[in-house]
Amino acid sequence: MNIKNRTLYIADNLNIMRNIDPEIIDLIYLDPPFNTKKKYKAPIGSKAEGASFKDIWTDEDVKHEWYGEVAEQNPELYQVIQAAETLYDKSMKIYLMAMAIRLFEMHRILKPTGSIYLHCDPTASHYLKMVMDSIFGKENFQNEVIWKRTSTHNDPGRFGRIHDTLLFYTKKDNATWNSQYEAHDPKYIKKSYCHQDARGRYRVGDLTGAGTSKGESGQPWRGVNPTDTGRHWAVPRTNAYAEYIEKHFIPNYRQISSIHDRLNALDEAGLIYWPKKGTIPRLKGYLDSSPGRPLQDIIADIKMGSKATERTSYPTQKPLALLECITKASSNEGDMVLDPFCGCATACVAAENLGRQWVGIDMSESAEVITKLRLQDEVDKGTDLWNPIEDVTVSRTPPQLTHPTTEKQIPITTLFSHPPDQSYSQTELQAFRSHKHRMYGNQEGRCNGCKHPFPFRNMTIDHIRPKSKNGTDEPNNLQLLCGACNSTKGNRSQKFLIDTLEKQFIR
Ligand SMILES: C[S@@+](CC[C@H](N)C(=O)[O-])C[C@H]1O[C@@H](n2cnc3c(N)ncnc32)[C@H](O)[C@@H]1O
Ligand SMILES: [Zn+2]
Repeated sequence: MNIKNRTLYIADNLNIMRNIDPEIIDLIYLDPPFNTKKKYKAPIGSKAEGASFKDIWTDEDVKHEWYGEVAEQNPELYQVIQAAETLYDKSMKIYLMAMAIRLFEMHRILKPTGSIYLHCDPTASHYLKMVMDSIFGKENFQNEVIWKRTSTHNDPGRFGRIHDTLLFYTKKDNATWNSQYEAHDPKYIKKSYCHQDARGRYRVGDLTGAGTSKGESGQPWRGVNPTDTGRHWAVPRTNAYAEYIEKHFIPNYRQISSIHDRLNALDEAGLIYWPKKGTIPRLKGYLDSSPGRPLQDIIADIKMGSKATERTSYPTQKPLALLECITKASSNEGDMVLDPFCGCATACVAAENLGRQWVGIDMSESAEVITKLRLQDEVDKGTDLWNPIEDVTVSRTPPQLTHPTTEKQIPITTLFSHPPDQSYSQTELQAFRSHKHRMYGNQEGRCNGCKHPFPFRNMTIDHIRPKSKNGTDEPNNLQLLCGACNSTKGNRSQKFLIDTLEKQFIR
């Protein structure tokens, strides 16, 4: 693994992630800009003073070769992104392209048992869902978690907009998962656990299952014959409640193989509820054995009040409790957590407090001071073993790949003076392809003749002025054409191509 615990990279996360070894991260939480068309700035005098970032997306935010890279690696995704421009606006396309190129890297560095949570809001969540489905696979989509961000909004003309969305994907189907629970609703407790004895509240559950049996489970016990009611004894032995019984009441309970012996032991321990004579006895299920209500995909009770002590005034700061919940659910102690848009380091603090390793990336220069201050303020006092000021590594340069692929850019002018393929190594070919990627972006995926969009693989590089007529290999004499336009043009001029297409009403 070429990254180290407690490292903060201050740089664009793309370049950092491109240099992280494959499949080494257990959990990625990202809270990128949401395409809100706003600028964010922390107030002067606040703990986070100096922090700012823009969430306005223009052409400068994407490199042209990214279009080609996305179109080549994942043509369906390219179409999705293209559709976002048609339906929404150009800034959405640019935003999604910038996200897609980074999500490719996140997918690459995530372990096969890893998970990723993309925090966003309805500005782009539905477009991002399609991007995530394309990159992580729709079969690996687990939840759209709705997080209630604030209490009430008086939004004129519509319902108050008060939630964010977290898109949760696993890399495969065997991801780390630890169920999380919340306390039962008191009304539910009163209704469901309506009995009480000296041990506390309990509910009663079946000791029999449907269908008769000729074996021991069908035989009468203490005068009750389950066969009379078309049932058989079903006495827990392997489930979580059997484990609870063994831990608290009957040592070695799970080793009792005879069903009647298990029933005897349960009865002696006072764990059987006897209703009126003649009816089938029931098993007491204590409230104490229930871990609570499993967390659902709507989280409504985690808030960061305006005066919460954790608040740094960092714009868009997220509550520690939310990050702790995700971290506990989708990682184990010692696992590596990455937050590539870490802001004021909420995910890093959560990871530290929960005994996970962490790496944060943020391109804002103020991230260093804010992260260290926060770790100092909020990391559990029990961990005096390290000092956030000294023990956090801050780096502005990417890590070193353990198995680097040396990519050598060859000058575009030499590309066409060489004989074909054999004279290039694999890495040179890779570099050659990156020129085509950039051209694809320059032309926004459209053929430079007929102007129709084409998949990356259907585009060929053409000399605008043919080489036979002294055309050079300079980038400004090169273009991408679809197969049909390329053969129409042949060795002729661009004007010939355009005139022909216009005559045929193709342009
Ligand atoms: C919404 S905030 C994250 C807030 C964070 N979750 C928290 O609780 O504090 C987004 C952050 O991403 C950073 N950022 C935006 N683009 C980035 C990029 N390409 N590389 C690294 N950081 C980036 C911004 O500086 C900003 O701090
Ligand atoms: Zn064409």
